[in-house]
Amino acid sequence: MSQASPSTGPVKPMALSDATRTRFAREVAKYPSEQAQSAVMACLSIVQHEQGWVSREAELAVADYLGMAPMAVHEVTTFYNMYNQQPVGKYKLNVCTNLPCQLRGGNEALAHLARKLGVEMGGTTADGMFTLQQCECLGACADAPVMLVNDRNMCSFMSHDKLDQLVDGLKAAEGQA
Ligand code: FES
Repeated sequence: MSQASPSTGPVKPMALSDATRTRFAREVAKYPSEQAQSAVMACLSIVQHEQGWVSREAELAVADYLGMAPMAVHEVTTFYNMYNQQPVGKYKLNVCTNLPCQLRGGNEALAHLARKLGVEMGGTTADGMFTLQQCECLGACADAPVMLVNDRNMCSFMSHDKLDQLVDGLKAAEGQA
């Protein structure tokens, strides 16, 4: 997985490998031929899986491939939390801070993680292990406060003790404990 930094200056479409084009084509084939754009989320997910994040260069490449306006692709990338618009750590921790979670300690959970990891909200630890972000409602308000690890694993009722266990467990799994 490449972890290049966000670029500055004029943006050009990223070159797509044959393997990436094959994966894109497989997604596009799921839709009627005039609706290739319906595969935009899948193509962005493929890019993110390969690169670790979705750069503007990658957005342009997806736009070119699907025949879409670059802004339309950018709107998708920026609307959904799961797309990383910059490189992130190995473990992306998204803490919900919408109202129901906020009323049950969501902000405190975020602050606790920030202290424990030594990063600001939105930051990544120096070792590249953890990125801490806040997020919108995850649809599990009854389990508040909740968080999502790497866009897939939902964690419920995240007390400070449970947050500590989670982070310490992940560090141990990486040989850091
Ligand atoms: S408000 Fe946090 S899951 Fe709904």
